[in-house]
Amino acid sequence: MAQTPVSIADLYDMEAPYVTEYRRLLHRIMNQDREEPVKSVLVTSAMVGEGKSTACCLLALTAVMKKKLKTLIVDADLRKPSVHKLFGLPAGPGLSEVLAEGHDPTDALHKTAVENLHVLTCGRLRENPTEVFDPEAIGRLIDEMKFYYDLIVVDCAPLLPVSDPMLLAPKVDGVLLVVKAGSTQKEVAQRAVQIVDPETSNVLGVVLNNMNHSLPYYYDYEYYHYDYSPKRLLNQRATGKKKPAKEERGAAKKEDSPQDNVARS
Ligand SMILES: Nc1ncnc2c1ncn2[C@@H]1O[C@H](COP(=O)(O)OP(=O)(O)OP(=O)(O)O)[C@@H](O)[C@H]1O
Ligand SMILES: [Mg+2]
Repeated sequence: MAQTPVSIADLYDMEAPYVTEYRRLLHRIMNQDREEPVKSVLVTSAMVGEGKSTACCLLALTAVMKKKLKTLIVDADLRKPSVHKLFGLPAGPGLSEVLAEGHDPTDALHKTAVENLHVLTCGRLRENPTEVFDPEAIGRLIDEMKFYYDLIVVDCAPLLPVSDPMLLAPKVDGVLLVVKAGSTQKEVAQRAVQIVDPETSNVLGVVLNNMNHSLPYYYDYEYYHYDYSPKRLLNQRATGKKKPAKEERGAAKKEDSPQDNVARS
């Protein structure tokens, strides 16, 4: 029997500390000191696998769920697209059909399980993504979509291996760079920043990914003697059980947790 794919929206935990961070990030993005509000954001990074697509989807989910913004994700990574997979959607029709076949973009917008969150998926993978990737056309499309959406988050390929994000950066209101803590080398991150032209593009800042692995105590709220998680409190009330004492947890932490393994893989 075919299994229903798990969507990132199902895993999104409104009370998780990372959501608080994304909310802060969104607040900063939306409150930039500039004449025109930031309505389109490109998410990229130096190299592959640093968490661009995940960050893109979490930012969009936070915009809808926490800020009630009507949001569109555009998967402009025509080389290694993954937003459709993260939401359990078909790959097409999507951006490549709009660019290569003149498909009407409004017919290529996919609804997600979350109201007011839509995705323009990558579309069919092409043999010649460089030729299909037209930054001018994508820029026009993003501008058109601003009429229908409060925020447009654009996922893209990495900066060092290909020129797509550098070419698209001037077509959006701001660029976010994902850096994977404990993995992205300093020189590599610096090179990525240099590639984005500050004359034509607006680098909003850096999303530091993988913090839980690099600085595990950063998110240990009880470490600071605060427990802000209503979910945890409700769970305690329901089960009558408190979390184990800090010493016991410390002992448990010494053995590798599954989360730790995930972060390392
Ligand atoms: N904060 C995080 N904590 C743990 N795992 C993460 C985190 N962010 C991303 N990942 C995992 O890292 C892997 C790469 O993430 P993702 O696909 O978002 O990166 P990407 O930069 O878009 O990659 P690509 O360059 O291939 O497009 C995925 O398996 C994802 O689940
Ligand atoms: Mg990706």
